[in-house]
Amino acid sequence: MNIHTYEKLWLIAAMLLIVGFIATITYGSVGLGIAMVGDQQETVEPTQLGEDDRFAEPRVEHVGENQYEAYVIAQTFRFQPDPIEVPANSEVTFHVTSRDVIHSFSVAGTNINTMVIPGEVAEMTVEFDDPEEYGIVCNEYCGPDHHNMEGQLHVVP
Ligand code: CUA
Repeated sequence: MNIHTYEKLWLIAAMLLIVGFIATITYGSVGLGIAMVGDQQETVEPTQLGEDDRFAEPRVEHVGENQYEAYVIAQTFRFQPDPIEVPANSEVTFHVTSRDVIHSFSVAGTNINTMVIPGEVAEMTVEFDDPEEYGIVCNEYCGPDHHNMEGQLHVVP
């Protein structure tokens, strides 16, 4: 009876150790993933975007004199809204999330480039000076039409 109890204790101790290792590895890599894509504090439930104040209606919102908030959804195989229209001489904070799998939000010819991970909200603030039309592409393989996943960013006069 006593030996049996000891065996059980050791078994439990060994299992806790294994769980501990797995947790360390998992959380370790999650931490690394977050660091790689930048400062991300906000989260969102990817399957509930329709009920989310920010993403129910992908849009650009005027919030200050020349300040705007853009709420953008990436999904296979498009971006919403499309086109994204922002005025010239503006400061725009982009909030980008995914409805399904990992994408990227990459504005060709600029340094706007972020990974878009379901459940997370990628954020970046960008200043736009001159009117211009940019293409938005996805740099993360996301399925058979990945190479056709594109959108437009219009900086309008
Ligand atoms: Cu979306 Cu590749």
